[in-house]
Amino acid sequence: MRHIIDIKDLSVEEINEILDTADDMISNREKYSHVCDGKKLATLFFEPSTRTRLSFEAAMLELGGSVLGFSTAESSSATKGESVSDTVRTVGCYADIIAMRHPKEGAPMVASLKSPVPVINAGDGGHNHPTQTLTDLLTIRREKGRMSNLTVGMCGDLMFGRTVHSLVNALVRYDNINFVFISPDELKIPDYLKHEISNIEGISFVETDCLESAIGDLDILYMTRVQKERFFNEADYIRLKDSYILDMQKLALAKDDLAILHPLPRVNEISREVDDDKRACYFKQVENGKIVRKALMMKLLEVEV
Ligand code: NCD
Repeated sequence: MRHIIDIKDLSVEEINEILDTADDMISNREKYSHVCDGKKLATLFFEPSTRTRLSFEAAMLELGGSVLGFSTAESSSATKGESVSDTVRTVGCYADIIAMRHPKEGAPMVASLKSPVPVINAGDGGHNHPTQTLTDLLTIRREKGRMSNLTVGMCGDLMFGRTVHSLVNALVRYDNINFVFISPDELKIPDYLKHEISNIEGISFVETDCLESAIGDLDILYMTRVQKERFFNEADYIRLKDSYILDMQKLALAKDDLAILHPLPRVNEISREVDDDKRACYFKQVENGKIVRKALMMKLLEVEV
């Protein structure tokens, strides 16, 4: 039995295989519509979500299976003091696979140790978000036609943004990736990640606080929201929340084939006018999120067409 807690739980070959299945699903959706007949997904969301939870659920329904779960911690026995381990032991009696989101870093990993069925981390605090990474990788591959030889700008809250951490950990396993980490001083990418990537051959990074000066070099621009819920102090959030706003003026400095990604939800960091630009890929990314989750669940449930 496999759990997916970190994107590194999948080898590069397995990631590529999931992306290949996802590509095939886009062209041949019907072929997959009964592969999970009789299977049940439980979504255990102790933290808010729109895309991740609903895309997991839509994915299982499109594969022929069914779904159960809760969307707030308040509606579960967590409010009575139940541990995540006991919760998954229980839910494992009702479902074949579990997707769990939790505000505490490491909670899905702890849950997986006692789970009788596969657990997928659907976001743990400011730590990791491996299925968003599969979404991002599919989007990059479909938009750019490659996963190597890319200059990737990551902009916004690089400290608390779990999608950034997982995506960096995935991209470092491809060739010739140059990261440009764009953030205010207070929201820089964690040192542990910089340390991890600094000695990898073919991978380089620079840090800056200026989006305008960096944007012209980028093949991918990964915008992120300042993660309000991770701040201890509201004044700091208010001061930092609008650090970067991508608008048409800044986009005029970018390459014609830039791909703009954002895990969403967007607050103010991308102006609405950018949505109509051909370089805006974030709504295509939403669609890709459902498809990679279908491919991942098929793999973990060991079902085939
Ligand atoms: C992200 C998350 O939850 O980390 N959203 C998502 O899953 N698509 C990003 C965010 O909340 O800013």
